[in-house]
Amino acid sequence: MAQLRSFIVLLLLVVFFDDHVSYGEAAFSIADYGAKSDGRSDSTKSLLAAWEAACGSAGSATMHVPAGDFLVGQATFAGPCSSGKITVQIDGTLVSPSDLGGAGDWLLFHHVEGVSVYGGTVDGRGSSLWACKAAGRSCASGASSLTFRNSKDITISGLTSTDSELYHIVIDGCDGVTVQNVKITAPGNSPNTDGIHVQGSSHVTITGAGIKTGDDCISVGPGTTNLWIEQVACGPGHGISIGSLGKGYDEEGVENVTVNTAVFTGTENGLRIKTWGRPSQAFVKGVVFEHAVMQNVQNPIIIDQNYCPGDRGCPDQSSGVKISGVTYNDIHGSSASEVAVNFDCSASNPCTGIGLQDIKLTYGNTAAESSCKHADGTASGFVVPPSCL
Ligand SMILES: *[C@@H]1O[C@H](CO)[C@@H](O)[C@H](O)[C@H]1NC(C)=O
Repeated sequence: MAQLRSFIVLLLLVVFFDDHVSYGEAAFSIADYGAKSDGRSDSTKSLLAAWEAACGSAGSATMHVPAGDFLVGQATFAGPCSSGKITVQIDGTLVSPSDLGGAGDWLLFHHVEGVSVYGGTVDGRGSSLWACKAAGRSCASGASSLTFRNSKDITISGLTSTDSELYHIVIDGCDGVTVQNVKITAPGNSPNTDGIHVQGSSHVTITGAGIKTGDDCISVGPGTTNLWIEQVACGPGHGISIGSLGKGYDEEGVENVTVNTAVFTGTENGLRIKTWGRPSQAFVKGVVFEHAVMQNVQNPIIIDQNYCPGDRGCPDQSSGVKISGVTYNDIHGSSASEVAVNFDCSASNPCTGIGLQDIKLTYGNTAAESSCKHADGTASGFVVPPSCL
């Protein structure tokens, strides 16, 4: 009776104090669809059933993953949905079976609009795939942990992603994505475990991320425009990279990217642009890198237009990717190698409009150096090592 009374009081409170309560609002817990929080029972079907219910709701809907560990195999959350506002509230952990084979994507959302993922942990359990790769055996291709593809108006907030087999978070073919306060962790020697990969997407904002991984902290692929990255801590890992670009000839360009207030600790690169040394009509234009701190970073500032792994398919060719309008402003800290600023641009398509302003990068107790090939631009303010532009 007392329980019923408090339930009614709560209900009244909700109705009186939340003027967003709409009659179509609905909540679907995966527990109500049979999911077990023991980390061993396969909860894939329960998760998909809860998604179908949320997706089919007329008004806003919440899909809830309660506390505990839920074993989930490859799962595709497909739209379009009837509901235009779906909240995926994760309090517990989604655990991968660790043998995703060639799935490509573990948790895949596609053709959805107005979906927000809050909190929780996704554990890709990638260590057996990494061990296979390290042993040089022939391995499955694996899966990225969380992918949004061809979607609009997406939020990922407060999520922790750990030990992905491949990329942790992928934003592909999306418009309007906010990624905030995510935490990504994988060992520094885990292969291909990029933190956040963005490609073919517009209006993506990544703020407040802490990313420790074995590959790029954030990687930016072809067709990315209007990308904003702010307050990101990277390391270990390979740093923030625009590219690799220009592997294909008909590739889309990258335009209007800002990286603001990033801290790199012990990473292989800091702020990198990387293109294949082969013909392409791709481009990179309008990039601002500002207010970055480098702590013992191998290549704090680098443009590498001669990427050609294994020297296969591109020896003696130069990159067709045109890089223009790239500004570096207020970048300071320590380099772990002598060449702290390295612009190795394409002989056939030199970099233009490179700007250096207020740079202070040191290399131990000796002076760091700059290196320029086919790079044109200007330096202003205090610039150490001295500009070679
Ligand atoms: C560049 O992108 C930012 C968002 O990152 C946006 O606010 C701004 O309007 C874009 N600039 C242009 C010229 O499109």
